[in-house]
Amino acid sequence: MRSHYCTDLSEKNIGEEVEVCGWSNNNRDHGGIIFIDLRDKSGLVQLVCDPSDSKSAHETANLVRDEFVLRAKGKVRARGEGLENPNLKTGKIEIVVDELIIENASEPVPFVIGDNNVGEETRLKYRYLDLRNAKSYETFKLRSKATIAARNVLDAQGFLEVETPILTKSTPEGARDYLVPSRVHNGEFFALPQSPQLFKQLLMCSGFDRYFQIAKCFRDEDLRADRQPEFTQIDLEMSFCDQEDVIKVTEDLLVNVFKAAGHEIQTPFNRIRYKDAMEKYGSDKPDLRYDLSMVDMIDIFANCENEIFSNIAKDKKKNRIKALKVPNGDNIFSKRQMKGFEDYVRKFGASGLGYFQMKEDGLKGPLTKFFKEEDLEEMIKVSNLQVGDAIFFGAGEKSLVLDYMGRFRIYLAELMDIIPADTFEFVWVVDFDMFEIVDGRVKALHHPFTQPKDINAPLDEMESIAYDIVLNGMELGGGSMRIHKKEMQEKVFELLGISEEEANEKFEFLLDALKFGAPPHGGLAMGLDRLIMLLTNSDSIRDVIAFPKTQRAQCLLTQAPSGVDNEQLKDLGIRLREKPKA
Ligand code: AMO
Repeated sequence: MRSHYCTDLSEKNIGEEVEVCGWSNNNRDHGGIIFIDLRDKSGLVQLVCDPSDSKSAHETANLVRDEFVLRAKGKVRARGEGLENPNLKTGKIEIVVDELIIENASEPVPFVIGDNNVGEETRLKYRYLDLRNAKSYETFKLRSKATIAARNVLDAQGFLEVETPILTKSTPEGARDYLVPSRVHNGEFFALPQSPQLFKQLLMCSGFDRYFQIAKCFRDEDLRADRQPEFTQIDLEMSFCDQEDVIKVTEDLLVNVFKAAGHEIQTPFNRIRYKDAMEKYGSDKPDLRYDLSMVDMIDIFANCENEIFSNIAKDKKKNRIKALKVPNGDNIFSKRQMKGFEDYVRKFGASGLGYFQMKEDGLKGPLTKFFKEEDLEEMIKVSNLQVGDAIFFGAGEKSLVLDYMGRFRIYLAELMDIIPADTFEFVWVVDFDMFEIVDGRVKALHHPFTQPKDINAPLDEMESIAYDIVLNGMELGGGSMRIHKKEMQEKVFELLGISEEEANEKFEFLLDALKFGAPPHGGLAMGLDRLIMLLTNSDSIRDVIAFPKTQRAQCLLTQAPSGVDNEQLKDLGIRLREKPKA
């Protein structure tokens, strides 16, 4: 219907007859002449409906309200002097309309398109209107370009795109499953995949050698700003490879995806061992755009005259005393502020937060009285303190201390405003622990199909060939080399406390496949939504998903999930314990 998109037009088109289509973004009557800002996916152009040019166009323009769908024919002309709009791409021109057609009317819309002050609930209820704004269009354009770039680079490297089932059996990735009842097999359920993990491993057993998929995954877990119940992965797997091959493919992929989004990034990325990341940054996804880091103080505190600390220092395996150095911290923060930081870490289970200030005449602070002079000197040395610096320290059970000190590090960086904008700081976190032991229960840190480095190592020391790619403090992706021998897989199930019967019941197909000549293989999956979030600098994952769920895992647009009628439940052999909500 159109000859041009709105913002294709410029001074070059002056004098040309053109035809444009879109929505009325805004219309004003100025002394009998009606001006309409017409909007399409590209942006805005001004239509001028002057009765002296076209009486019928002017009459039609009189009927136009916001969000009416219009088609306009007319001639491009330069705007009069002083009437140019420097904020608009098409601000130097306008279209003098000689034919205006209303393709569709619109009732008054619940909010002005592009208004940032509208509550998210309303925006999600009318998501199709919310998406009419230019920023959203740009986001999804970038998402499309990035996805196509990912497909192209993987295709060029010999990866085959294969779709794996959505109606399937549970794949453990650590979250709850979404279940789908079967009508044909009453009382039985499919699970939606938490990832295509096992299918991609089976494709390696099929000899496909290199697989990828832009895969939908489903996880029923507590939602956060970077989590959705339904999300997309760039998922890949390769055979006869090692960790270095997967890392290389991923780095090439990221270079190309970032290029498609207009950014140049340098490879190879830095690497850090999982243990070091935890000890230095209190996180397995450290944000390395700034370099606040922690040092260990447990040996120094072992000598102090405060029983709480010296007791903690007795068990170096179980406990930690960590100091976070803040360059210039003593100059930046008042004593009151430093004391107040305790309230922040208490929220995460800390019993307190100590601090020292580096003054001209040595280390000062409420706790210095418990330390010998040489220990204070040692603290200055290990933290490399300069006059004006401050150190904060946390003491207690290892995982608790690392967690709250890690959070405190981020909190301080935000407070001090030291996080540089527009930088992409990638890091590979490698050599993950194989297991985490929570309340005596052994859990896989990645997933149970990850290859341990040495299956005979003690459980709490066993490392795996697993790696995560982290960008600006967000886990972008994770992967591992997989177990490709049946005996090893059985052994890992056993260590995880999965009985033989349970292993057979849940994973017989995998164990079977591993006994029929499974090649060495490994891979990785990256969260596409998170990638786009970082590329578009979005605060919420919902901004980069066309039809997202809320924090409470609902779709406000379609009102899903919703009750179903009794007939449907009967077909499925399901009776609800409580009556569904009307
Ligand atoms: P993992 O569970 O680490 O690994 O997931 C890979 C990546 O997927 C993204 N992601 C999510 N994004 C949005 N919402 C969620 N709820 C969500 N959960 C995960 C993250 C994450 O890094 N099968 C393995 C991969 C492998 O080993 O090959 C897996 O799924 O960016």
